Amino acid sequence: MCGIVGYIGESQAAPVLLDGLSKLEYRGYDSAGIAVFDGEQIKVQKSTGRLKVLSELTHDGATMPGVSGIGHTRWATHGAPSNVNAHPHYNQTETIAVVHNGIIENYLKLRKYLEEKGYQFVSETDTEIVAHLLDRYYKGDPLEAITKVMHRVEGSYALGILFKEHPDQVFAVRKDSPLIVGRGKDGNLIASDVPAVLKYTRNVYFIQNEEIAVLTKESIAFYNVDGDELPKEATTIDWDINAAEKGGYEHFMLKEMYEQPQTVRDTLNPRIREGEVVIEELGMGETEIRAIHKIHIVACGSAYHAGVTAKYVFEGLARIPVEVDLASEFRYRNPILAEDDLVIIISQSGETADSLAALREAKQRGVKTLGIVNVVGSSIAREADQVMYTWAGPEIAVATTKAYSAQLVAQYLLAILFAKVRGEIIETEAAGLLQDLQKLPEQIEMLLGNKERIQRFANRYIAAKDVFFVGRGIDFAISMEGSLKLKEISYIHSEAYAAGELKHGTISLIEEGTLVAAVVTQEELYKKTISNIVELRSRGAFVLAVTNTGNREIEKAADYVIYIPQTNRYFTNSLAIIPLQLFSYYVSVGKGCDVDKPRNLAKSVTVE
Ligand code: AGP
Repeated sequence: MCGIVGYIGESQAAPVLLDGLSKLEYRGYDSAGIAVFDGEQIKVQKSTGRLKVLSELTHDGATMPGVSGIGHTRWATHGAPSNVNAHPHYNQTETIAVVHNGIIENYLKLRKYLEEKGYQFVSETDTEIVAHLLDRYYKGDPLEAITKVMHRVEGSYALGILFKEHPDQVFAVRKDSPLIVGRGKDGNLIASDVPAVLKYTRNVYFIQNEEIAVLTKESIAFYNVDGDELPKEATTIDWDINAAEKGGYEHFMLKEMYEQPQTVRDTLNPRIREGEVVIEELGMGETEIRAIHKIHIVACGSAYHAGVTAKYVFEGLARIPVEVDLASEFRYRNPILAEDDLVIIISQSGETADSLAALREAKQRGVKTLGIVNVVGSSIAREADQVMYTWAGPEIAVATTKAYSAQLVAQYLLAILFAKVRGEIIETEAAGLLQDLQKLPEQIEMLLGNKERIQRFANRYIAAKDVFFVGRGIDFAISMEGSLKLKEISYIHSEAYAAGELKHGTISLIEEGTLVAAVVTQEELYKKTISNIVELRSRGAFVLAVTNTGNREIEKAADYVIYIPQTNRYFTNSLAIIPLQLFSYYVSVGKGCDVDKPRNLAKSVTVE
């Protein structure tokens, strides 16, 4: 995510802004910038790379005098990392400056509207439309201009705003992306997160959705989107700085698990317009989509597991043959690729050496490549013919959760688009699928609410030596990811098996009390998997079942059941993985492992 800071008070603003941004560096970023009102102008200084480049450019803020300002660290979503795309963004007359965290879903429509009104854009960002829209609506009253913009803009945003004609005020606006206000001793602050203000105050206000904060050096006022003033109580923060960086969560992994509803929303919503799937960045017309002969999905680790799930979805919905490869295998097995094939490379970091090499192999053979990547401007994002970003924000924990969930829904969207264009599904079916998709965030949220129950269950398996995950069809793909999560953060040996394979060898490993997690979400396979569960239990296994609400027969078969809400059978992975993530997390915590930085692992494997 991007980081926002703002300050107005008795001190020089630039050093406070730079200090605040340094406390937000953990959020990940590729460029930074500050804007300070120097008594006459709003001066802006931006830079790519690390924050210290900006500090050096401004001599730690000394070259930017003034007592009010805003600052930003950018995690690119729209437009590669560059000085031009870095925030703050001006309006054309440089009388307004804006910093933004979030995703503006209707920015293309608004950009077109503003260009038709004569506005010229300098960046590729969605944020710049806010500066021009504020310019269009500003007639002397900043609050009125802001509320009008809020009525036009769709998506998630936390904004910091300066108006040259109102130098004694700093404005903050929030919708979905977090933003707080701090009441300091010699001035007031805004920030995306608590760590940025702790040096100055522990008295903070949490701006709620669709609220506006207006700061002067002595006062703080809050308004709703209708411009009505709102009373608000301050909260005293008693976190230490380390806990604050994790938003109060004990680990980044837990924080990122809880961000999954928003990252799924951010990945889905900008690509669903008036009930249609619209993926501009795909760069493929209907003719090209119809001509796809075969899809090769190539990735590593969890990204590979997301691809295995997608195989069932693409083949089930779009009836396109799919082959899923581990990147480290694909690049050396002289794969058979036809010119009408599509190679999809999935990668959170966009820097995984094997996945990058696989991409280059496919390109060398003249096959169209699509990257599904989280880090904007990364190698795979730059080198793939087309890139579809998973707007999950920076993922700090080595074990992926929110990026994996975003990779799933990005592929669901592709499968629905391909199925519709190729005539495999009709309008009403596509509409039903999209409705189910858009329910996923709240269903994930509900499953995350089960954490205490799962924590209690997990505590029973801290000393486990072997844990097996089994499932059939798409449930086998979920089992793979559930097993990897447990292995990589708790160091417990675990394996995923197609449930039908157990009797071909693995079942000999089952001993009294061996935990087996059975994923049972595919209704047409319930009976088959339940019979596997019976086999397992008759040999002493303790079976945890993850299944759909309403599958009552499972209670007679399994020892412990976790229910997931009803959704389309192709989307169950997005829900079933939540309890499995929580289970692995709490086993790891119970064992005292380093959850965010597990031994021997790196967040991105940039070497072979
Ligand atoms: C997943 O929890 C692991 N951190 C690892 O398997 C990861 O998915 C794999 O290394 C691929 O990384 P990428 O998505 O950045 O390419």
